[in-house]
Amino acid sequence: MNHFKLIITSLIILSVAATASSEQPTPEAVFETRLKPIFNSPDPSSCVQCHLAAVDLKNYILPTSRETFISLRDQGLINTKQPDESKILHLISMGDSDPDILSQRIHAKNRKREYDAFSHWIKSCCQNEDLLAAKPLETNKKAGPILSDAVIRHSRTDRVLDSFIRNVWSQRMRCFPCHTPAELDAGNPMHTKPIQRHRDFVEQYGARMNIFKKTPLETMRALIASSRIKGNKQEFKVGNLPLINLEEPALSLLVEKPTAKLPAKKPDGKFSEPSSSTPVSHMGGIKMHKGDQSYKAWLHWLEDYAASLYGRYESDEELPKDNWYPTQHVVRIKSVPESWPSLATVQVFVHRWDKESKSWTDKPIAFTQSLVTPRKIINGSLFVLATPGQRDQLDPTGTKLEPGKVQLRLFIDKDNALAESPILLLNSRSPDTTFTLDAKFGIGFKNADIVE
Ligand code: HEC
Ligand code: HEC
Repeated sequence: MNHFKLIITSLIILSVAATASSEQPTPEAVFETRLKPIFNSPDPSSCVQCHLAAVDLKNYILPTSRETFISLRDQGLINTKQPDESKILHLISMGDSDPDILSQRIHAKNRKREYDAFSHWIKSCCQNEDLLAAKPLETNKKAGPILSDAVIRHSRTDRVLDSFIRNVWSQRMRCFPCHTPAELDAGNPMHTKPIQRHRDFVEQYGARMNIFKKTPLETMRALIASSRIKGNKQEFKVGNLPLINLEEPALSLLVEKPTAKLPAKKPDGKFSEPSSSTPVSHMGGIKMHKGDQSYKAWLHWLEDYAASLYGRYESDEELPKDNWYPTQHVVRIKSVPESWPSLATVQVFVHRWDKESKSWTDKPIAFTQSLVTPRKIINGSLFVLATPGQRDQLDPTGTKLEPGKVQLRLFIDKDNALAESPILLLNSRSPDTTFTLDAKFGIGFKNADIVE
């Protein structure tokens, strides 16, 4: 090509480009260049900041621009009179008002890209008379989430955090002082020794000692970050179990460590290195039993978090109730039937006396789970089983029960069902034994309600 020809060709290309840009690109063009890349991206959209699964911006994009527009318009998600006020834009910008500033920042860039793309496309659609007048879709295709509102709600990070507070955070004092730096108070003379102990451990084992942070959110975030998925695989130190094991929640270090024994002693009398792979050993020794109520609550959270994250819930029936609220009320039963073996797991359900019907209420108000000790005693802190109506009034960090006459219904885990499914409640059959009690519902082990 000689120079003259090159210049002419360039001029022609330039003038064509100029005509094109002076006209608005068609909705289809914007759809192809801006929305399709969001749809085709292997990464989740910015919605993942709050919705672990169950809904994604991709759900709102149908194969063609026309179908997408008509469907969103007919669901009221696009405001054709005031495109900037469209509900779909409001959904995208929800992330801007997240009180969790860190996560707000992480997703800010992605969110802006999505917002600009949708905003641009909506505006170009709303200038197109043909589209505005288009008849509703005849197919039953619908732009939007496939799963129910209940599943979407359950898969939100704030719901997961609420569950974390009730089930895990509430039990953290069992790990005092070794893993709870924020609970150590230099001004409290009772804490002088615990502070020293914690400091020594941190010197020896490093910052990994500080499992519980200042707030539940920071704690949960750190646990999750330590167990992040990269590609399709969970990332952790080779050979070690992760703190949160998404594939096998029961093999999370978070529950494996506190249920593990001290490491074996070497011939010189010193402990060998504690192990973080199976079989796990723990320098803190056994602090929790597989079978007690804290273990159950922690595993409940771990399993539910993994299922929510992986989007395993597909219908309302599959959702766990997730209605356990911690208390500091302890029940101790000293008259367990002799025939019950030591270390058997027992669930205790609390039923109130209903004065009006003069009978025990059908639904339990609380429960605990515990192992039968060698001296045939059961000891456990109660979790309130909240009804949906109660939930807004209860404090997720800890609640209380009014004193009163109660019946305790005991269920022994006869068939070892809990080994298979640790979060199971056994009260769908009739109880193995019952006790009645005038419960005071005091605070802590010192004020336990005791059945002699
Ligand atoms: C900052 C957190 C946050 C982000 C980011 C977020 N949402 Fe939500 N979303 C919520 C909350 C909170 C609710 C419950 C709203 C309510 O009850 O008022 C909700 C509810 C929903 C619902 C249930 C239906 C409804 O209207 O209540 C849908 C669908 C939804 N969001 C879709 C999305 C989509 C799509 C995105 C991404 C474009 C997104 N959300 C981004 C927090 C968020
Ligand atoms: C008396 C002190 C002490 C108590 C109480 C204690 N631990 Fe530990 N824990 C340790 C020490 C020391 C280590 C570091 C050595 C090791 O890995 O065993 C550790 C390590 C861990 C680890 C591994 C952390 C990591 O990232 O490697 C976890 C998880 C853990 N403990 C969980 C718990 C839980 C949960 C509780 C309470 C239910 C608890 N521990 C109670 C002393 C304690």
